[in-house]
Amino acid sequence: MRRLDIFDTTLRDGEQSPGVALNMEEKLQIARQLEKLGVDVIEAGFPITSPGDFQAVALIAEKVKNSTIAALARAEEKDIDRAWEAIRIAESPRIHTFIATSPIHMQYKLRKTPDHVLELAVRGVELARSKVSDVEFSAEDASRSHIDFLAQIFSRVIKAGATVINIPDTVGYAMPGEFADFIKAVMAKTTGIEKVKVSVHCHNDLGLAVANSLAAVNVGIHQIECAMNGLGERAGNAALEEVAMALSTRKEWYGVETGINTKEITRTSNLVSRLTGMRIQANKAVVGKNAFAHESGIHQDGVLKERSTYEIMSPEAIGLDINTIVLGKHSGRHAVKQSLDDLNIEMDEQRFQKLFEDFKVLAEKKKVITEADLYALAEIKAAELVKLDYWQILSGNTLKPTATIGLVHTNGYDDNEELVKAAYGDGSVAAAYKAIDKIIGVDGVLENYALQAIDSGEDSQGEVTVTVAFGEHKAAGRGVSTDVIEASIKAYVQAVNRALTKGWITIKKR
Ligand code: KIV
Ligand code: ZN
Repeated sequence: MRRLDIFDTTLRDGEQSPGVALNMEEKLQIARQLEKLGVDVIEAGFPITSPGDFQAVALIAEKVKNSTIAALARAEEKDIDRAWEAIRIAESPRIHTFIATSPIHMQYKLRKTPDHVLELAVRGVELARSKVSDVEFSAEDASRSHIDFLAQIFSRVIKAGATVINIPDTVGYAMPGEFADFIKAVMAKTTGIEKVKVSVHCHNDLGLAVANSLAAVNVGIHQIECAMNGLGERAGNAALEEVAMALSTRKEWYGVETGINTKEITRTSNLVSRLTGMRIQANKAVVGKNAFAHESGIHQDGVLKERSTYEIMSPEAIGLDINTIVLGKHSGRHAVKQSLDDLNIEMDEQRFQKLFEDFKVLAEKKKVITEADLYALAEIKAAELVKLDYWQILSGNTLKPTATIGLVHTNGYDDNEELVKAAYGDGSVAAAYKAIDKIIGVDGVLENYALQAIDSGEDSQGEVTVTVAFGEHKAAGRGVSTDVIEASIKAYVQAVNRALTKGWITIKKR
């Protein structure tokens, strides 16, 4: 069977989703899990865009050994140099360079002629190839480009040393049959096509990213670019889990195999959702809460008699049954450490000691500590510039809810000054959020608030996810606690921390 590579861009295109801002340790944790999932290529970031992105790519390049590590770069010298610096330490590095090729992009965005674009693409690939043997070239907005121009540019970059050529449907405009024919035509006209891998990268603006990617499989492509939970610019990228399960459930139809260990899908999806703060809709294919739930009596009856009546894939195939790490108050250090290892969570002794203390406190409050609880306990605090110290709420149906919040600045900011403010609001959470706004001196706008239990048990912790707009930027935050008010406050503080880390806001005293 033909081998199809899975190229994951959760940490690059996925991280471009509005509201998502991962810190370095979070990115590494996701990269390690993607490696365990069996993805062939991890696009770890776009190093030129910020020092933080550069460092995260470099860290992943150093630590992740079983997947190729790709770094994105425009077809420009400074981007390519920076990308190479970030990934040079990787066991299997790839530079992924791109330039737009559609008339719209060339005329209005780049303001360059097709000849100039061609020249920059070739120069970019030659430069990248002088540094590394694995070079991917993407023609941005390929699906709205002229077939002859695409074939010309691909022929030239292949001659210049590209090893993978990528055909993105950047704006999610293509239709499945049309996209397949388009790729076939481009491939037929490209000189040297047999020497390279052909890849697709589809966006989901019309809900067709997965369908378009799969349609391309039938015309002989070698790589699909996708992101976990379908994260990505605007409506997102093709969802990795849907691509992987379609290819595995309909293996005979597609006649290809991938290196994906589908049993790691649930764990990867949960991790990405948790760390990005991007929730998964209940009816989402493969990883939604309802994906394996049978509601109607007729369906339940059928499934009880024979599962295959209404199930085309099993929950076990995506690892729904392996979410079973359970610890309790009698669990010792060794058991907790082993469970963290199983979840790819690495930490030094000092941090483990703190986690173990928190574990014991939590285990006193709830009977069983689940995998979701462990993730929450291990949540990375590296990018915390302000930290919740204490909170008090006065509330009731006969008084205006009032909150007092105390934060501490973890960078030694004004050591002697307490970051404490009180505020009132329409509800306890609103009052708490106003008090935090007063402390940081910036008014965040709460655009999204959701509360749910992290597990199914009666004593499950509450998880709150928020999206907060700070001017034109949006930051997501997540908080977990046995108390839902505390979870709400933690979520907002995390969004503030993300905005501070990104430099979108600074603390202003009022
Ligand atoms: O959507 C797109 O065209 C991209 C390229 C950089 C591959 O993300
Ligand atoms: Zn994209």
